[in-house]
Amino acid sequence: MKTLVIYDSVYGNTEEIAKSMGEAIGSEAKVVKAENAGPANLTSIELLIVGSPTYGGRPTPKMKEFLDNIRAVTLKDVKIAAFDTRFPATWVKIFGFAAGKIEKRLKSQGGTSVIKPEGFYVSRTKGPLVEGEYERAAKWAQDIMDRQ
Ligand SMILES: Cc1cc2nc3c(=O)[nH]c(=O)nc-3n(C[C@H](O)[C@H](O)[C@H](O)COP(=O)(O)O)c2cc1C
Repeated sequence: MKTLVIYDSVYGNTEEIAKSMGEAIGSEAKVVKAENAGPANLTSIELLIVGSPTYGGRPTPKMKEFLDNIRAVTLKDVKIAAFDTRFPATWVKIFGFAAGKIEKRLKSQGGTSVIKPEGFYVSRTKGPLVEGEYERAAKWAQDIMDRQ
């Protein structure tokens, strides 16, 4: 399945997660940073996976910019999945998370969600990822493929 994984990352943790997903999916997956992607990347893809660090309960400004840039693109025939990176602490729930907001946007453009939005944990602002999260990301991506 022709797959595009778009991510933003400030400190590299979300990039690691995105690359883990890309490797799990295999040669049909392209992994591209949001600032290097636009509407042209979305032609003839079957699965779009989008992920961002959570900043104040939302995607980062660069991810928001990407999502705004592709606002006019229809995702009618595209399967979509959203993820974020976040803190494991319970207090952060007050602000919400990026993944649900990304999914909402992609669905509003006609995309069909194929899996629940997922969060992957970082131990501190700059990371590292909590142990096991790299592998969990690969499994999450593999689950998507298994459902198709
Ligand atoms: C300005 C700022 C706001 C943040 N807000 C949240 C938040 O609301 N909830 C949360 O779980 N993590 C929050 N974090 C932690 C980030 O999610 C974490 O730095 C990010 O997952 C690291 O990803 P990266 O290495 O790909 O940049 C925040 C971090 C920064 C710097």
